[in-house]
Amino acid sequence: MLERVARKLRKAAPSKTARTGKTAPQDPPKRTPREAREARLRAALQQEMAIDVERIVQHSMPTGGHGKLARLRGMKLDAAATRLYHRVEKGFSLPEPRRPFGAQALKGLDVVLANDKHDPDALYAHESRAVLSALEAWNERGERDEAVAPRGDSLPTNPLDAETMAHFITSRRSIRDFAPTPVAREMIEEAVRVAMSAPSVCNRQGWRAYWFDSAEDLARVLPLHSGSGGFADRIPGVFVLTYDIRAFEGPHERNQGYIDGGLFSQNLLLALHGLGLGAVPLNWSRSQQASAKMRAAAGIPDHENILMLVAAGHPAEGYRVARSARRPLAEVLRFGMPEKPDASGMAT
Ligand SMILES: Cc1cc2nc3c(=O)[nH]c(=O)nc-3n(C[C@H](O)[C@H](O)[C@H](O)COP(=O)(O)O)c2cc1C
Repeated sequence: MLERVARKLRKAAPSKTARTGKTAPQDPPKRTPREAREARLRAALQQEMAIDVERIVQHSMPTGGHGKLARLRGMKLDAAATRLYHRVEKGFSLPEPRRPFGAQALKGLDVVLANDKHDPDALYAHESRAVLSALEAWNERGERDEAVAPRGDSLPTNPLDAETMAHFITSRRSIRDFAPTPVAREMIEEAVRVAMSAPSVCNRQGWRAYWFDSAEDLARVLPLHSGSGGFADRIPGVFVLTYDIRAFEGPHERNQGYIDGGLFSQNLLLALHGLGLGAVPLNWSRSQQASAKMRAAAGIPDHENILMLVAAGHPAEGYRVARSARRPLAEVLRFGMPEKPDASGMAT
């Protein structure tokens, strides 16, 4: 894939002159150093983004109406069905659902369940059947199915809960100093289970987590990261977090995997914190080539994009954290419209 895109780009690439910023005598007007820098940055960005485009074209769920539901397979069918059945669940969670409603979703879910490649044991098939029978009960008999949109009971019931929660969230810090004690697999499973409660677009849950904790695996994965210098050799385990491009559709959802994946990643950090483990997110601000290397080293399929790594383990006795001071609230939060219409109104 990388070679194919590189070939295309070479064909459409700006000349060497444009890439290096050095102006040939026959190539006026001369570029300023700043223009040359910008041209190099533009070319590098276009090269990276062209590969993003190709990967989305190759792997994402196709756009279009219900017609595609009969042809989709695997994760793409899963994601399309999830979006449909979730639309019905959302309808039932409104204070006064319309009656009848869900005709389009009903049609689509019928096609999904008639698709001979659908997996009847998968969550999406189970939930699709559940919402179909809930729709029938509601539309035909006015009976509400309590299971598809149960009453919520998740809000804190007293101010102390809110205080405890704020303390819990704000006491999470990046920990980079670990004890050599291995982390029990049960803790990792529990952390990921809790993290999976993160919200995602139409509940598509495109995130994936790979945990590596053997010396051999760590030796394959960690050297591909840059940003853990000084503590990589003390990391007892590391997650590679990714998202599945196939869970997302078309150009408008191009960034959604990163957004949902970011929410999942933060939940994971909080879940690890809740279990008394230390963790530090590790950037994956890497080239497409580095991502391809990581996918190969870690056995991650081509249809996934890497979000970040998270190192985790039992904190070392007496560990320290970087202060990482937070900005004043006024730099982040604004109420309503700006005082001057042409300014953002944020503190500068
Ligand atoms: C996506 C992401 C990537 C990060 N990458 C690194 C990294 O490569 N190395 C590192 O030591 N810390 C890394 N951090 C940790 C940040 O430095 C840290 O979250 C920030 O300073 C706030 O501090 P806190 O996490 O202790 O609240 C990363 C954080 C995020 C969210």
